[in-house]
Amino acid sequence: MPEQKTPQDLQAIIEDIHRELTPRLGEGKVADYIPQLARVDPKHFGMAIVTTDGQVHRVGDAEVPFSIQSVSKVFTLTLALGKHGENIWHRVGREPSGSAFNSIVQLEQEGGKPRNPFINAGAITISDLILAGHTPRELIGEIVQFVRYLADDDAIVIDHEVARSETATGFRNFALANFMRSFGRLDHPVEHVLGVYFHHCALSMTCSQLAKAGLFLAAGGTDPLTGHSVVSRQRARRINALMLTCGHYDGSGDFAYRVGLPGKSGVGGGILAVAPGKASVAVWSPGLNVNGNSLLGSLALEMLAARTGWSVF
Ligand code: DON
Repeated sequence: MPEQKTPQDLQAIIEDIHRELTPRLGEGKVADYIPQLARVDPKHFGMAIVTTDGQVHRVGDAEVPFSIQSVSKVFTLTLALGKHGENIWHRVGREPSGSAFNSIVQLEQEGGKPRNPFINAGAITISDLILAGHTPRELIGEIVQFVRYLADDDAIVIDHEVARSETATGFRNFALANFMRSFGRLDHPVEHVLGVYFHHCALSMTCSQLAKAGLFLAAGGTDPLTGHSVVSRQRARRINALMLTCGHYDGSGDFAYRVGLPGKSGVGGGILAVAPGKASVAVWSPGLNVNGNSLLGSLALEMLAARTGWSVF
């Protein structure tokens, strides 16, 4: 096992990564399905690391908020496991899909049960599950409060313009939700379920906030900085397993091969990666690869894992 890196080591490593990637900033394709994402400067790059022994390191645009999009699915999954425990697996699988994040093909073949909680259909199902006993507005408020609690930061908000745009243009997500409803697999009206889904995807966070929010996953379920006991050690391990196998959609195998860490990407260009026992890492670079995952963000994490020895393998 490599030793925990010293603060000087880690800061130097992320500064080197930033410097080495600077000539490549702007590579990849920024998501353009809503104007709020299409107009983000593709040259942004930020990275933040929070270690389990309390070091915080930042580089580049680590304090600039961005749309976390599908990274939020880690937090709603955690909430769903808290509310319903292992019963959620009757409604959603835990196998990699090998398909695009918004694919509908498997859903028909598999009776409307999504392969995992991170593809869009699976995350929509999770929204339906956690809606039980709430109005959409209450639940959206609860999700924001939960993420603020995880990050220990009350400044985190939803970008309502992003949520509105997602709602206005989310035809594919409406199709997925209606399709699942046709199989009797949603308990609540499609508009309510998607209202929750679009709003959690529209959470706006910085790399620093995101790395802090993920620290419980690196530390066996209890945030060592706040002392918040979020989930059991076993549950943290299981969420990490899902992130490793499913967190990058049809690019999950490649991410595991190159980086070797549990990670969850979002189409806004953010990635949350977890080095169990070591650190939580957030990176943001808006240009995406063909699978809809941050191109330079994945590369930065590959470099970080190689230089720290943090791969889980
Ligand atoms: O529902 C959608 O398609 C977007 N709000 C989120 C998709 C996403 O982040 C996929 N990740 N790469």
